[in-house]
Parts: sequence; structure tokens; C-alpha cells
Amino acid sequence: MTFSRRVLANNNTLIMNIRSDFPVFEKYPSLIYLDSAATAQRPNYVIDWIASYMRYSYSNIHRGAYELSSISEELYELSKKKVQENIWAKETSEIIYTYNSTYGINLLAQSLKKTWWLKKDDTILVNIAEHHANFVPWLMLKEEINIELNTIWYNQDSGFDYDIFTQSLSQNVRLIALTAASNTTGEKIDLLRIKNILDQTYISWVRPFLVIDASQLLPHEQINVELYNIDFLVFTGHKVMADTGIGVLYGKKEHLRKLIPAFSGWWAINYVSANDFSPAGLPYRFEPWTPHLVWAVSLLRAFEYIESIWWYEAIASHEKEITAYIFHKLHDFLPYKNGQISLIGSKNPDIRIGLFSFALKDIHPHDVADFLADNNIAVRSWHHCTEPLHMSLWIPASIRLSIACYTTKEDIDTFFLVLEKALITLS
Ligand code: ALA
Repeated sequence: MTFSRRVLANNNTLIMNIRSDFPVFEKYPSLIYLDSAATAQRPNYVIDWIASYMRYSYSNIHRGAYELSSISEELYELSKKKVQENIWAKETSEIIYTYNSTYGINLLAQSLKKTWWLKKDDTILVNIAEHHANFVPWLMLKEEINIELNTIWYNQDSGFDYDIFTQSLSQNVRLIALTAASNTTGEKIDLLRIKNILDQTYISWVRPFLVIDASQLLPHEQINVELYNIDFLVFTGHKVMADTGIGVLYGKKEHLRKLIPAFSGWWAINYVSANDFSPAGLPYRFEPWTPHLVWAVSLLRAFEYIESIWWYEAIASHEKEITAYIFHKLHDFLPYKNGQISLIGSKNPDIRIGLFSFALKDIHPHDVADFLADNNIAVRSWHHCTEPLHMSLWIPASIRLSIACYTTKEDIDTFFLVLEKALITLS
């Protein structure tokens, strides 16, 4: 199977071509899928390659001298190479495959504890807008070893507060956990600004580890771990159109070499005796299981697909256009609704991905989501695994729409039309 980059026609033609790559829209032509932040739809390219891999190239890796095993192993390594390129890591030895972002952060948290790089009275600084995946593993360390967990509160008017962040830094802060783009406010963190603040603050003290959850950013933008001096980063495959069950933990090699893995077994060891073992080289010492081979291949193919549609170039401009269109719609919609519905997070499109959550007055978001679902519109409702953020804003739940390369302006028009009906019917 081969692919080539599409000729860049005007955006509309490109998007309609792209939409036809997704079989779900063939089966459900009237589906309006606005839940890509929960999981993205898969293109034929990825699906076909998964089937082809399972049919003709499948075997375990690192253990067979036979050809099938070599093919599988080669694909596994190619997949890591693709990830390395897309996050601008130095080497594939810095790329650890896990199941997803949540697992990656848990693995990291437990390994940091085991290495004594996090211990009693150390402080971890967390953005209140973090997904539970980047919150609960640190809360667990608070429970287990009494670390301090300080949160950076969210400012509903100005968004992430860089001044409060700067003021929260101290010698005791050993780790900073931030989402690169929030799955609830849609806000992107200015990682260059974070890097500059850290460079200025920690000239003489030991710089804390910077842990970035890129799960929501990477579907929209590449991220450069070197440029922002990121120590550890996680993301999950299913949001970039690979399948569920594959996630990435990136770590700087200088850290990974000394970090003691929380778990071990299988290929993660160099030798084992009845009394002893020694860990394997990087990154395998952190992958103590038969890897998710099919899903690793799906990640390779997903990034290839992204390249083939010029995702990070042309699609970015399409997503920007749709995001601006949503703001344009909101401009008329929100004041007219007189407080019945309000946008969570910053109103500055330049610092956002295409993801919008709304708080509702006197109507439960589940009821609105049901109403939308009855009209073929898929959104997410409730707290989106950011309960601390919702609580801090005194919002019990919200509804969220999130876009991807296959979202059209017509999807957005229909969403607002049906939302309007829902608010009238349910109030
Ligand atoms: N983390 C995913 C979301 O925000 C599931 O929807």
C-alpha cells in the first residue's frame, strides 16, 4: 500500500476528500461527530493497514529468528521512529510504549517514587485544569509518601495564570505537571513562556521535572520536546486516529538512564538469576510486556496518514477556520441566550484548540447531549475527567464539542440549530 501527499486544493475540496477517507461517514452520512477529543475517527488507511498487518505480518518481536518476527520488529521500530519525529525527540530510545496517557503518567509517578526522585515534603505543582490522568497519579503519591500537591487555579477571564504559576515556584517544587492543551477549556499552554519562566527561576536551584500531557495538543499540532526542554511527555494513540491501547511516555535519555522502572519482567531485563536481575537497555526496560504490536503499527500508519493529508499544515488552517466560525456563531448565540449557556475558558481563539465546553443554567448537560444524540450529533457531557476544574469554577458538569480534520461548517451550523431547539425544549 502506498500513499502520497494530497495536492492542496482549496480547503473545502480537501476537507470533502478527507471526509471520504473515514468509512464511518459512509455508513452514517448524517452523523455529526463533534467528540474527537474523546477519540478520533479512523481513516481507511489505518484500518486497512491494521487488517493487513494482522493478516500477513503478525508475530511477536524480539524473540524469533524467522522472517515474520523481523518484519514485525521492523514495523515496531519504524513506529517509534515516527513518534520520535513527531515530537522532535533526539532518539527512539526515549520513546516508551504504554497503553495510553494515564498509564504513562502512572508508570512515571511510580518510577520517580521508586528512584527517590520524589519523596516526602517535595512539592508537585499541578494545573487545576489537568485531566484526572495527570492529577490522580500525583494525588496517589501525596497519599503514599506525603508529597505536597499545589494547584494553579484557573482564571475564567484570562485563562492559565502565568503570574500565579511563577509565584508558585520554589526550591521545593520537584515536578510540574501541565496539560499542553486542556480537554475542557481548549486552552493551549504557552510552552515557550513556561520554559523561559523556568530558565529564569531555576538558575541556581535544581530545575523541577516538567511533565507535559500532550494528549489533546498532538492531534492538532506537533510538539517539540527539545525546544521546550520537556523532561517527560505523554500522549495517547486513539486521539491521533491510531487505536486505543497504545500510548507514549517520552523521557529525556539522561533521566531514563537513571530512573528505576516501577515494573519489570519479560524483555525488560538483561539477565535474571534465582536471586537477582539486571534491567535491559533503553527503552525496553520500561516495557515489561509483549508490546501492543498491532496498535504500535496503527500509530505508525496514523502518523503516515496525518502526513499524507498535510495535517499539521493545511489541516491546521482548516481547524483554525472552523474554530473562528464557532466563535462567530457564539458571538450571536450566547448574548441572545441571556446566561442560559456560557463558554468555559478563554475567548481568545489564538490560544485555543477546536474544543469548546459550555456550562448550562437549570438544564442538565446530559439532557442536552441526549437531545443532540437524538439528532445524530455526538458530543460529550459531564465533567470530562476534569472534576477539580469544574468544582473550582462551581460548574457541576458541561457539554463539550470538539473538532477534527473532518469537521465541516455545516456540522457547526446544525449543532447550533439543534442546540437552540434543545435549550427551548428542555427549559
Ligand atoms: N480524555 C478523553 C476526553 O477528554 C476521554 O474526552
